[in-house]
Amino acid sequence: MFKHIAVIGLGTMGPGMVARLARGGVNVTAYDVAASAIERARAAFAVAETVLDSLGIAAPASGAGTVRFTEDLADAVSGADLVIENVPEKIEIKAEVYRKIDALIGADIIVASDTSGIPITHLQAHLSHPARMVGMHWSNPPHIIPMIEVIGGEKTAPGTVKTMGDFIRALGLLPVFIKKDVPGFVENRVLYALLREVVDLVERGVIEPEDIDTCVSWGIGYKLAVVGPMALLDMAGLDIYNSVASHLNADLCDRKDVAPLVASKIAEGTLGIKSGSGVYSYTPERIAGLQKDRAQKLVAIRRILEGGA
Ligand SMILES: NC(=O)c1ccc[n+]([C@@H]2O[C@H](COP(=O)([O-])OP(=O)(O)OC[C@H]3O[C@@H](n4cnc5c(N)ncnc54)[C@H](O)[C@@H]3O)[C@@H](O)[C@H]2O)c1
Repeated sequence: MFKHIAVIGLGTMGPGMVARLARGGVNVTAYDVAASAIERARAAFAVAETVLDSLGIAAPASGAGTVRFTEDLADAVSGADLVIENVPEKIEIKAEVYRKIDALIGADIIVASDTSGIPITHLQAHLSHPARMVGMHWSNPPHIIPMIEVIGGEKTAPGTVKTMGDFIRALGLLPVFIKKDVPGFVENRVLYALLREVVDLVERGVIEPEDIDTCVSWGIGYKLAVVGPMALLDMAGLDIYNSVASHLNADLCDRKDVAPLVASKIAEGTLGIKSGSGVYSYTPERIAGLQKDRAQKLVAIRRILEGGA
């Protein structure tokens, strides 16, 4: 069990992760290269703490861990027995962070990356002790979603993967072990297969965005929270899957590039919530309302799925 964790990078993912780790009893030092990100992270951390309260996630008997924000990388990693890298999904930025961390930590310290899908084998090449590097891919929002993918690269020691899995379990979270270091790991491969198909259906005029959101959320999405896709195969019957898939698979979207619908929106500067419009349009009030509403619903659903309602 790690006692002191350094979280490097406090953007979308960092603050919720810091809150969840501290609630699990671990002392956390939190670092970002940008002072403005640290200020935003303090506020986001406070919000995540209230969500953890509403989820009923109690600290262990020994108490919650401490949290300290710092603008100094050496200070952040000093004394840490695990360093979680959580900087932008660009290999050159991550490599530069590893180069700096490498010079500051001992050979036995585990370095984890929250990368969404860069193979760990590529990342660990930038550390002098690659056996101690492991993928620890959280899902957003990290203080609410309990599943974490654990990925070993070609040079990761099996003991490093096991230590990470044991730690995630000890926190009361759900480790999922990815046995091959494939790009995107598993969660994002499945999500991106779905996103490719829905964007294609909208682009071809088969359905409007609002209707496909209703279809997926209230059809398969609602069901998948209770019955996983492999269990769903058994529920439907493998013979039924076979007869549908044998003609439908050939008709599913298999484009290798990104759909023009997405590219044209990006060219117009419509990037989604962050720019006020994307697939849908947003006012600042709607954004605040959506964030609160989504967090409350995710908390309520999780309580029911865990049998706590
Ligand atoms: N956003 C998601 O939904 C999500 C989900 C799971 C995993 N991830 C992964 O987590 C990682 C972080 O994603 P994010 O969405 O939080 O990114 P983000 O862009 O929101 O935040 C990244 C943070 O890293 C900081 N940073 C940049 N360079 C740095 C450096 N050299 N040292 C320290 N901090 C630095 C930035 O100031 C920023 O605050 C990525 O690898 C991403 O793929 C993201």
